[in-house]
Amino acid sequence: MIVKTERDREGMRAASRVVKAALDAAEKFIKVGVTTLEIDAVVEEVIRSYGATPSSKGFQGYPNASCISVNDVVVHGIPSLRTVKDGDIVSVDITALLNGYQGDAARTFPVGNVSPKNLALIAAAKSAFEAGMEYAKAGNKVGDVSSAVQLYSELNGYGVVRALTGHGIGHKMHEPPEVPNFGKRNTGAPLKSGLCICVEPMITSGDWRVYIERDGWTVRTADGSNAAHYENTVIITDGAPEILTL
Ligand code: MF3
Ligand code: CO
Ligand code: CO
Repeated sequence: MIVKTERDREGMRAASRVVKAALDAAEKFIKVGVTTLEIDAVVEEVIRSYGATPSSKGFQGYPNASCISVNDVVVHGIPSLRTVKDGDIVSVDITALLNGYQGDAARTFPVGNVSPKNLALIAAAKSAFEAGMEYAKAGNKVGDVSSAVQLYSELNGYGVVRALTGHGIGHKMHEPPEVPNFGKRNTGAPLKSGLCICVEPMITSGDWRVYIERDGWTVRTADGSNAAHYENTVIITDGAPEILTL
């Protein structure tokens, strides 16, 4: 969506605030021994407490309010009776619909005593997003953001997942343009002032290749290396981007 009115801008902000509140509640709740289904229940409760709806639930048959992806699961992990363990890294990805507007964001949280290597992986996903933000302004192209994310990640030794991308967002969770985490400068769709996009690096501490499990959702690294995911909903402007889900 290209935000043209203050009403649209406020709508996107409000939906994004719901997502951020749900992420914060998940972060507080996550500890050794909780199941990923229990985390999902907290997320759904927070979303509904704002009068919003969890967009993921029922999206192409997806069963839950959040995607919860542990360790070598990259994204789209389905909440289950699996408990989180000391040393795990847990990605939580949430999309909420409020008054016709979508917000979408993800974080990767460490559980208990997490190895320095895994903590660095989590930090790198955020830094890769921030590298992308340096180029996220009107007049640039999607490829400028994509290449910045890719360069940051690969120069620091991480694999960049290619099977999934960021995306435009607005009244629908996924709108044009696609926003890959890899690509070349000065290519792709132009970034216009008011364009709403989700930028969401998915990086691994090993190879970038992934596969989808037989459940049709769970995306796992092919080599078993861990992955981190960091996503925000962003509005492009002539200056610094407005990041709605911080
Ligand atoms: N939140 C995801 C994204 O970042 C999409 C969720 S897929 C769903 O694009 F099936 F869980 F909805
Ligand atoms: Co998401
Ligand atoms: Co997204």
